[in-house]
Amino acid sequence: MKIGLLGCGTVGSALVSLLDQEGERLAYLLGEPLELGRILVRDPEKERSWPIPASLLTTQLSDVIDDAEIGLVVELLGPGEFALAAIRAALRAEKSVVTANKEILSTHFPELELAAEAANRDIFFEAAVAGGIPLIRALRVSLFGERLSRIVGIVNGTTNYILTKMQEEHLSLEVALGEAQQLGYAEADPSGDLSGRDAASKLAIIASIAFGSHVDVEDVKVDGIWGVTPSDVDFAARSGGVIKLLAQAERDADIPDAPIRVEVFPAIVMSTHPLASVRGSFNAVFVEGSAVGQLMFSGPGAGGLPTASAVLADVIDAVKNLRNSTRAPMRVTEGTHFVDDSTVEAVFALSMEVVDAPGVLAQVSEVFGQHGVSIARMEQDELGAELAHLVFLTHRTRLSAMKATIAGLAGLDVIARLHQILRVLE
Ligand SMILES: NC(=O)c1ccc[n+]([C@@H]2O[C@H](COP(=O)([O-])OP(=O)(O)OC[C@H]3O[C@@H](n4cnc5c(N)ncnc54)[C@H](OP(=O)(O)O)[C@@H]3O)[C@@H](O)[C@H]2O)c1
Repeated sequence: MKIGLLGCGTVGSALVSLLDQEGERLAYLLGEPLELGRILVRDPEKERSWPIPASLLTTQLSDVIDDAEIGLVVELLGPGEFALAAIRAALRAEKSVVTANKEILSTHFPELELAAEAANRDIFFEAAVAGGIPLIRALRVSLFGERLSRIVGIVNGTTNYILTKMQEEHLSLEVALGEAQQLGYAEADPSGDLSGRDAASKLAIIASIAFGSHVDVEDVKVDGIWGVTPSDVDFAARSGGVIKLLAQAERDADIPDAPIRVEVFPAIVMSTHPLASVRGSFNAVFVEGSAVGQLMFSGPGAGGLPTASAVLADVIDAVKNLRNSTRAPMRVTEGTHFVDDSTVEAVFALSMEVVDAPGVLAQVSEVFGQHGVSIARMEQDELGAELAHLVFLTHRTRLSAMKATIAGLAGLDVIARLHQILRVLE
């Protein structure tokens, strides 16, 4: 079986290294060798992290798509229209596709699955979510018979690295981000990670597969970590937890076609929860099923070799299916219903800087009361410059009441700065 590889950067080069190093063993186990046919790149002269025979390199997509010996195309080009066009062309040419492209899958999954079905070929994408963790395969194969109620996880290694540094070394977000950029964990433009958009793309794919119902990235309610401060991190620690950027998909497993809730948000995760111990750039996903109970998957969420390992697993599955003239369908229904925001309930933490004067605390507390938000705990410390820092922890309350409270607080003259709202993972 010949493989056409689109892109030979971080993940593509690592995949070639795995095919070279593990080729003999895999050929024995599979009963046939996995051979690279052509490799599409932008610049054939570029130095690669693994030696690539020049004869395999091409800059023409058609050299891959029109090659009848290539039965499987691995797309590792990165975001953009070209990668989408390449996947469509490969499926039209009746080649199976393996991709790591979360941007494309989180918006075009139903269309591409239909195209794969029409071609009687597979489209696999284990590496698009949580790098080396075999999560998608677990959801679509091992847990296929489960009624899943909740998937909550840390699926963005960059923000987890930054939050871990803030927590363990008392750094500001800006300094921790600078370190992450120096070490290559964060890109020069970190907005996709810090805004929560990257996690939302991955959550859309996870939820679609877990619930068999199409979730687009635009359906995900997203709040990133831009506003998390060292004082929020300290408050979380004093409360017995750590701040994490969580991606959560929920549905009532007992009601057929129940609406889905998909959100990315910063939360205080109590240290008793398994997600609290996930440090640095690692990813982890916690899954709750009707029969299996609770499961936790964790591991490296990115990096050339871990991601290439997930791609290789898909390649092996796709090759087996091609040989048996079969495919693995991943049906998702359209017209997904989503939970109305106003019904969402949680415990929240909200901190703020206020004028340090008599009567201020009463004014602030009154706004919470006006919106029916009951306060479980409050902390106050001096900030100097006639300012005080207040943190409120609520009892379980509606998100809509919390939003109304924040709008009310924003109108008070005595408030110098409102921090980002944090949810508490119970
Ligand atoms: N890196 C990770 O840790 C990681 C983790 C999970 C998922 N992924 C996903 O894996 C995919 C690949 O990521 P990567 O980090 O390997 O990307 P990368 O290092 O930027 O490599 C991209 C490759 O695609 C080639 N390419 C891009 N546009 C092209 C075009 N128009 N024509 C021909 N070749 C083109 C580049 O060619 P040149 O080399 O000649 O420039 C390069 O070889 C992405 O979808 C990414 O989201 C990556």
